[in-house]
Amino acid sequence: MNRCVVGILISLIFVLEVKTTEHDIDPNGYILFCLCMGRFGNQAEHFLGGLAFSKLINRTLIVPPWRTYKNIPYSEWFQIESLRSYHRVIDAEDFMQNLAPRVWPKESRIGFCWLPADRPKSECQMKDGNPFESFWNELNVSFVDTTTYQLHYDEYSVNQWQKLFPADRYPVLALKGAPASYPMLAEHRQLQKYMTWSEQIMDEVRQHQKKLFNNEPYIGIHLRNDIDWERSCTNVESYKTRSYMASPQCLDLLASTNSYVTQKICYPSDEEILRLLKNIVLRTRIRNIYVATDKRPMIKEIEEHLAAQRVYVAHLDPWLPVIDVAMLAHADYFIGNCVSSFTSVIKRARDAHDLPTAFWGFSN
Ligand SMILES: *[C@@H]1O[C@H](CO)[C@@H](O)[C@H](O)[C@H]1NC(C)=O
Ligand SMILES: *[C@@H]1O[C@H](CO)[C@@H](O)[C@H](O)[C@H]1NC(C)=O
Repeated sequence: MNRCVVGILISLIFVLEVKTTEHDIDPNGYILFCLCMGRFGNQAEHFLGGLAFSKLINRTLIVPPWRTYKNIPYSEWFQIESLRSYHRVIDAEDFMQNLAPRVWPKESRIGFCWLPADRPKSECQMKDGNPFESFWNELNVSFVDTTTYQLHYDEYSVNQWQKLFPADRYPVLALKGAPASYPMLAEHRQLQKYMTWSEQIMDEVRQHQKKLFNNEPYIGIHLRNDIDWERSCTNVESYKTRSYMASPQCLDLLASTNSYVTQKICYPSDEEILRLLKNIVLRTRIRNIYVATDKRPMIKEIEEHLAAQRVYVAHLDPWLPVIDVAMLAHADYFIGNCVSSFTSVIKRARDAHDLPTAFWGFSN
């Protein structure tokens, strides 16, 4: 070979090198799962648990889209970039378009289900039902086979995961459900700080803050009071539990271990809501109130009860609940429902910035 050819080859190799580092393939493999349980609050808890697990087994997390009536790319609501200071991540759409053809060709796509050992593999149906089917279809993923596992998602199981599913044979673990517990583990709550809002969401928050409150301070409140919730809370005291849905977020704050979820915490009465809200208004001297609710905003009740304080009550009722989450996350004070995971994502986001949170039926 003459020098010129060698030179061309070297620069060609260099160009290829530069090109592939843009989408480096992780030799330790990837993990992807559907946030297929519940609405945004539940999905956020599962997301953080799954994020922690992907770091534990040292696979790149293929960041799943949020699930509404369709897949919403993670980056529409939060910045992918800030997750990177915790662990290696790649956006799901990016992965499907740029890496899947090389790392996860169509004929190699296996789905993984957690199932008890005595259940047949045929019960592992990755696309069975809603939203599973739409989730994978919108990512253009079909499975040629499935496999089941009985492993946990903790540090004691990492070796087994790696032994059973080594990255060279299984470059992508596509799990049917999130590899996380619900309610989420307390130690994972602080991971919320890696979920920073997208510019798109922040722009909207700033617009509402200006329009509704002229950029003055406001107290945000979350009223979870639809009929399904009332039913969920009916017998809660008979369970004698500290852990009912998101309830550890407030009960963990108590030193005593024999305090249980009460009806008052789960489904506070109007009197309790007006009592605590008035206390906070008097204490903070903030007179703007932002109400987020799935059913009854109690606007008239609040205005009447706090007539002397001349409060202004805003109820935006946005089409996307995540706008309520962002508005409450940025309020100067927040009162939420301790049992609700919609409240819990707000509480965690606020804790990351040392903003105060109170709970109905729990705080003074
Ligand atoms: C984790 O994976 C990364 C990237 O593949 C690798 O560089 C690193 O050595 C791995 N860490 C451990 C502890 O295996
Ligand atoms: C799925 O396929 C459609 C149609 O080819 C395409 O427009 C879309 O971008 C693909 N989605 C992903 C996540 O690759």
